[in-house]
Amino acid sequence: MYVPQHVVTNNDLIKYMDTTDAWIRERTGITERRYAHRTEETTTTMGIEAAKIAIKNAGITPQDIDFVIFATLSPDYYFPGCGVLVQRTMKMKEIGALDVRNQCSGFVYAISVGDQFIKSGMYKNILVIGSEKHSFGLDFSTRGRNISVIFGDGSGAVVLQPTTNENQGILSTHLHSDGESAEILAMYNPGTHANHWMPEKLADFNEAEMGEMFMSHEMIDKGQNFPHMDGQSVFKKAVIKIPEAIMESLAANNYKPSDINMLITHQANLRISQYVQHQLGLRDDQVYNNIQRYGNTTAASIPLALCEAWQDGKVKEGDLVCLAAFGSGFTWAAALLKW
Ligand SMILES: CC(C)(COP(=O)(O)OP(=O)(O)OC[C@H]1O[C@@H](n2cnc3c(N)ncnc32)[C@H](O)[C@@H]1OP(=O)(O)O)[C@@H](O)C(=O)NCCC(=O)NCCS
Repeated sequence: MYVPQHVVTNNDLIKYMDTTDAWIRERTGITERRYAHRTEETTTTMGIEAAKIAIKNAGITPQDIDFVIFATLSPDYYFPGCGVLVQRTMKMKEIGALDVRNQCSGFVYAISVGDQFIKSGMYKNILVIGSEKHSFGLDFSTRGRNISVIFGDGSGAVVLQPTTNENQGILSTHLHSDGESAEILAMYNPGTHANHWMPEKLADFNEAEMGEMFMSHEMIDKGQNFPHMDGQSVFKKAVIKIPEAIMESLAANNYKPSDINMLITHQANLRISQYVQHQLGLRDDQVYNNIQRYGNTTAASIPLALCEAWQDGKVKEGDLVCLAAFGSGFTWAAALLKW
């Protein structure tokens, strides 16, 4: 894992918007988050810092990596993706590089893709990165406070490799989506939607045949270049779909909730994670949360929490580890691992 040095407390945010430490703590559990250096760090450079550690811990070099999967919603460029920037910077061979755009479920989707390539025998060393530089794209005025206080920057990475040990590794992954609520948690612009999916017209689109429409001055003036979220709808769906995905992963492998040694849910909101823990009847030592210190780091949140839990000795060889996520799309997913 890698997180930027700069710590931003709830009280620091009061300088920019009408909010309070108490509101943020009570609703989300967050006390502080990290923000990347404005100009010296990007989503990719942070991902590379985490990748260097993962590759070193795996006992290999960047030249041994066969495939890169990069999950993020805050890429350095709209295109190309961050994967190729990793390949270039880490001087990897001319391997495949794939970016995954599944937001908060991005990391679980990414390891699921990697798992299929490993199990098919196509690749032996897959680098999976989840990284976000949210601080560069949030509305820090009071208008954006329901979103801006939640998100933070950071990155995490893993190297996936085949194992001959039958009772070890990724047992199964389970991916889901329901696009009915795609606009509930979304960043509409820049995009090509031209109001197509919107019940109400957002910005005006120029009917002229030619002209820039990806991002107009009007969109920027109306703050439509920032993410949009109906927090309560997200909350209600998340607390149903995360337990569902966990139960699905357990049932697929003949386990029950009490068998879980460590559950790591996407760190969206401490209240969501606690609700899921309660619903599954798990003890405190069966779950790990660090949203209090990092906020919601989207694609990075699961590897950040997994890394800290592992470093703290809370994830040990042979443990049954469940990863579960929910986010924009909506998409949700779970992975069951034998560590
Ligand atoms: C975002 C979230 C914390 C908001 O909590 P909530 O109880 O739903 O709050 P609401 O949005 O209904 O807003 C309640 C009030 O707080 C205000 N408010 C919103 N953000 C605020 C902030 N940062 N500080 C102070 N007040 C705030 C609202 O303006 C509203 O005021 P009003 O009652 O005067 O209109 C909560 O909905 C949530 O966590 N949802 C899940 C979001 C999530 O996990 N997103 C990541 C996706 S994976």
